[in-house]
Amino acid sequence: MEFPLINFEKLNGEERKDTMDQIKDACENWGFFELINHGIPYDLMDTLEKLTKEHYRKCMEHRFKELVATKGLDAVQTEVKDMDWESTYHVRHLPESNISELLDLTHQHREVMKEFALKLEKLAEDLLDLLCENLGLEKGYLKKAFYGSKGPTFGTKVANYPPCPNPELVKGLRAHTDAGGIILLFQDDKVSGLQLLKDGQWIDVPPMRHSIVVNLGDQLEVITNGKYKSVEHRVIAQTDRTRMSIASFYNPGSDAVIYPAPPLLERGTEEKNKVYPKFVFEDYMKIYAGLKFHAKEPRFEALKAPDVNVGPIATV
Ligand SMILES: [Fe+2]
Repeated sequence: MEFPLINFEKLNGEERKDTMDQIKDACENWGFFELINHGIPYDLMDTLEKLTKEHYRKCMEHRFKELVATKGLDAVQTEVKDMDWESTYHVRHLPESNISELLDLTHQHREVMKEFALKLEKLAEDLLDLLCENLGLEKGYLKKAFYGSKGPTFGTKVANYPPCPNPELVKGLRAHTDAGGIILLFQDDKVSGLQLLKDGQWIDVPPMRHSIVVNLGDQLEVITNGKYKSVEHRVIAQTDRTRMSIASFYNPGSDAVIYPAPPLLERGTEEKNKVYPKFVFEDYMKIYAGLKFHAKEPRFEALKAPDVNVGPIATV
């Protein structure tokens, strides 16, 4: 049972079919895979890593230490269930960028982040089309399903997981599935900590230099009618080193209407037996905000209520 590693370059050659099959298997059985030779320039990744780590040391680390001291997080005796051992900030790229509002980033850092985000956006869209091909959906189906009236939401969560004296009691990030569409992660190549739940066991997502880790969110589970599943994951901080994580989320636009793709519905299934509802993405996010660290099924159930508004603003 090896963590799925996909060599993206092989999609251009004789091994295309095998590589597509590997992606299919990873989507059906893992909800995660790691991409190598994905075309994002390594020097761009190296520069972003250097700038991110510098920024953490200069602007974020002391704030995190203050927070830990205020909350007494470094001396807890029992499991902490309402906080994570992480230092984060968010950058929005689409529908409009907020990067100019992040005042403590240098000009170079902003420019590098923008360039990286543009490349990742393209990679996310290429991946969605590969998923369409494997699912037997027409090219562009998933991109269109995410589009809404203003295009997809695309943003980056930059996180650092500092050394933690009690990683079992205070999780770096508590277990959850991701709400959105497809997630592309540039993670520390030396400090591990990300784990996914497979067959009841927590499995490490192996750090690998210049790789991009891909995982699927709840919306792809809905659209694929459960053929692909969003998978629970968590971060366990290390006791001696800081882990960097730059996770970019390619999600539906807020008014996109999400529902299982008709070609993927089992024939003859009655309405009442359908597992996944139809809803507006922002309504899902309202529910997710309070239930992120709970099982996903009640979120789907909550949206089956007949009074959920799936009005005519933006159908796909
Ligand atoms: Fe996540």
